[in-house]
Amino acid sequence: MSTSWKGLILAGGTGSRLYPLTHAVNKHLLPVFDKPMIYYPLTTLMLGGVREFVIVSNPESIPQLQSLLGDGAKWGLKFEYVAQNRPGGIAEGFRVAANELEGRNIALILGDNIFYGDGLSKRIQEATKQTKGATIFGYEVADPSAFGVVELGPDGRAVSLEEKPKKPKSKWAVPGIYFYDSDVLDIAWGLKPSGRGELEITDVNRAYMERGDLHVKTIGRGVAWLDGGTHADLFEAGQFIKVVEERTGLKVACPEEIAFRMGFIDRNGLADLVDDSPKTEYQKYLKELLDRSR
Ligand code: DAU
Repeated sequence: MSTSWKGLILAGGTGSRLYPLTHAVNKHLLPVFDKPMIYYPLTTLMLGGVREFVIVSNPESIPQLQSLLGDGAKWGLKFEYVAQNRPGGIAEGFRVAANELEGRNIALILGDNIFYGDGLSKRIQEATKQTKGATIFGYEVADPSAFGVVELGPDGRAVSLEEKPKKPKSKWAVPGIYFYDSDVLDIAWGLKPSGRGELEITDVNRAYMERGDLHVKTIGRGVAWLDGGTHADLFEAGQFIKVVEERTGLKVACPEEIAFRMGFIDRNGLADLVDDSPKTEYQKYLKELLDRSR
């Protein structure tokens, strides 16, 4: 379906807004209710059919991430890890992982962005069908000034893009999930650091807009978009997942389940995962999934 796509998960940065939680532990390993944060962006791209991933993080966090995720084979995936020595901005991710990404379509997701809702997989699968140019999303929020903001013309195309504007020109925030053709590497190499000293993803998107090659899709209110940037965000995201999971009896962002449902692993692969899991509620959930699939 989308084999040309490589996922790029950004799991670096300082996590300073979550201090002291992040003093010894990478932010993307912190719990969002019953799973590490990184499971959420990972499974979002898995639902779009992406199976190969480059995970970018600060050097001291890579062993922690590897210990959790391994090489991906048990989930029918492939993970490569690349170090970002200092947090030089989201778009720096393309530079540090240039060798791993060369010649590929790239689905970038920020490691603290959580998406949940009806129609999400369809939206992502649609985005992966567009293999030329870039696809970003617009999501209406009450206060867009904390995000990248896109202004849309009457034809639905982007007319302006700004990073954290004091006076936003629209309510459309740009969530941390982006789809690019392989030109994005050249664009990233040509960027200059912004006023805050970072290579900005909004500048990448503006370059595509100026070429007339930027596609913007809106995500409606049927999808929740959350992030784990602050203590309150992290707490609220955890509560949200808890409410949804307890009401439905289904897990959100369970990589084993999604790998199985997407056909990345077969019943034998799922049975191995059950056997290898400690005897927990999580294992029980996987076992029930296996039993129901007979
Ligand atoms: O959440 C969506 C927003 O994410 C977008 O609307 C903005 O346009 C985009 O700039 C970004 O804004 P943030 O200020 O929220 O980005 P933050 O610096 O918090 O980093 C987001 C994630 O990327 C976080 O999980 C850490 C990771 N990261 C960040 C930087 C700057 C890295 O891995 N390396 C980095 O150098």
